[in-house]
Amino acid sequence: MELKVERDSDVDNWKEVILIYNSALKQISTKLEILNDEFQHVHQYNPIEHIKSRIKTSESIVKKLKRNGYESTIENMVKYVNDIAGIRVICSFTSDIYEIAEMIRDQSDIKVISVKDYIVSPKASGYRSYHMLVTVPVYLSDRIVDTKVEIQIRTVGMDFWASLEHKIHYKFEGNAPDHIRDELIECARMSSQLDERMLSLNREVHISSEGRQA
Ligand code: GTP
Ligand code: MG
Repeated sequence: MELKVERDSDVDNWKEVILIYNSALKQISTKLEILNDEFQHVHQYNPIEHIKSRIKTSESIVKKLKRNGYESTIENMVKYVNDIAGIRVICSFTSDIYEIAEMIRDQSDIKVISVKDYIVSPKASGYRSYHMLVTVPVYLSDRIVDTKVEIQIRTVGMDFWASLEHKIHYKFEGNAPDHIRDELIECARMSSQLDERMLSLNREVHISSEGRQA
């Protein structure tokens, strides 16, 4: 099944929609880079390790619409597929995640549609990350389009775990043997502990270096 882009006008619409999502990704990326630069300027520290962004492929969009029982039209994809534009922000520490989320939330042109905190409440798989669905205005020549972007914010450890789990999930088509699932849950627990220990170590070092400067 393919997206219904039969007429020339549909092709034009499709191109325009993708252009808008790409513009929204650029806007959010730039906002995050500015925040990171400012953080470096004020605190001599970068909370963001790196940023990855992607536009969902038309095949994945169609699959998701189908899975949720919607016809594959451009209108439905804009309405029902929230992660066409996706951005992943990788940080060092869990505390960075919440600081970044707060800074995004505080920007007056960004609207937060929903938040899923899989750090406070990890998924049964062991998955941890902080998800925000936001809209950002994209200024076109004749109108402004509030465009949805899914932001996933995670630590390096959470990202490492998620990428391996994703590969395993794909390999076993979602039916990994029990011992592999159990091992993944155990790895997620260890990764969460490592995040906590690294954070407290960093705090301790930070406090003692501030003490020396005083
Ligand atoms: P999707 O239909 O997959 O978008 O799920 P959802 O609409 O319930 O949203 P959710 O916020 O739960 O997950 C969205 C995205 O988070 C996924 O596309 C993945 O990138 C990531 N994700 C969620 N759960 C897992 C997981 O168990 N493992 C991995 N590796 N990634 C996950
Ligand atoms: Mg998704």
